[in-house]
Amino acid sequence: MSAAFGVLAAAAPAPARGPPLGTRHRASSSPSVAFGSRPRGASSSSACRAFTPAGAKIAGVGMSVPAQFLTNDDLASLVDTNDEWIRTRTGIGKRHVISGDETLTSLAAEASAKALEMAGVNARDVDLVLLATSSPDDAFGSACTLQAAIGAEGALAFDITAACSGFVVGVINGVHFIRGGGFKNVLVVGADVLSRYVDWRDRGTCILFGDGCGAMVLTAVPDPNDCCLLGFDAHSDGEGNHNLTASCVASVSARGESKPRAEDASAASAFAGFDNIAMNGQEVFKFAVRTVPDTLGKSLKAAGMDDASEIDHLVLHQANQRIIDGAAKKLKVPAEKVVSNIEKYGNTGAGSVPIAIAEAVEEGRIKEGDVVATAGFGAGLTWASAILRW
Ligand code: ACO
Repeated sequence: MSAAFGVLAAAAPAPARGPPLGTRHRASSSPSVAFGSRPRGASSSSACRAFTPAGAKIAGVGMSVPAQFLTNDDLASLVDTNDEWIRTRTGIGKRHVISGDETLTSLAAEASAKALEMAGVNARDVDLVLLATSSPDDAFGSACTLQAAIGAEGALAFDITAACSGFVVGVINGVHFIRGGGFKNVLVVGADVLSRYVDWRDRGTCILFGDGCGAMVLTAVPDPNDCCLLGFDAHSDGEGNHNLTASCVASVSARGESKPRAEDASAASAFAGFDNIAMNGQEVFKFAVRTVPDTLGKSLKAAGMDDASEIDHLVLHQANQRIIDGAAKKLKVPAEKVVSNIEKYGNTGAGSVPIAIAEAVEEGRIKEGDVVATAGFGAGLTWASAILRW
């Protein structure tokens, strides 16, 4: 799990400080400004310690899925579909769904506890909790309830909403917090319980989504040149937002449909909530096939790699096996390097990438020193990729 990046640093002309962290930073004439130079005139007082640059390594991972699951045959009793269609068109065999006392926070707490244990980090020593989710237990976010559940009393905790790109965006953020100084242990969690927003009458979406959570502990190392994030790339396109939504609904939905929710007309405010997931599957498919190879190419370039031949594992958002296979083919990544668990869990939103990484680590597939290329894409629209050294 050490994050030595010396091989790449030696092979490519590295900037004065740290690895090339993405195209924009690489193009910057002085990356050291972003990563910790002391403001002019400031003395070396304790306040400046917050800006002492550090390196970052991946120290631990963990995952959690709900106890109950729905098979394709189960769904065939709800909508006009069948196991063969779902497997052929998506690669999905079953998906886990929360029930009983399970919540987003309880799943996230379980995955986080496993990641902290692997990292050998006490929850009290976590400085920052970043929870990537689109389905929090509370509209104000669930990062703070996660913080309380695991006992990370000293941590700042907040949510990141970037749909299925959320975990990758969270890792990019977490590494930057550490590299900027002042944050030693950062817990990055990707979690979703999208089953809450699934319309179980819509065969175009209900077959896809499952609930689950993965977590990663990032830890500071003294050498700023020692960084687990070798390169990254991230984008958004709000113009494509309408292709994948779970719109806020009060008395009238964002799509203009009349949705009276308040039973009592004298209520001060109408009930507000979120509508079911609505997706233009074909458009999202085309968007993913176009953007995933492109963003990975940019991240590889930022990491000083000409192509994907230097990576050991490709871990993509598990949305559709055909998207994963298409991206792998375009990047010329052989099947044995492609991590896929979509058959077992379906699309777990922000949970999918960290669940896949945690499982591959648990199985001994991802090993110390391995290079992992990862990408997320989804609602927003958002897409992001990162090249990580385990
Ligand atoms: N069972 C059987 N038939 C179905 C089903 C189903 N579950 N769903 C659709 N069909 C039918 C359609 O009605 C259509 O029938 P028709 O030809 O008679 O009209 C036919 O199958 C083909 O439908 P398509 O929509 O063209 O099927 P497609 O091959 O595109 O697969 C799918 C649909 C699986 C949704 C695909 O488009 C896809 O995976 N899209 C990307 C989804 C994705 O990646 N989402 C990311 C979300 S991440 C986040 O941010 C939450």
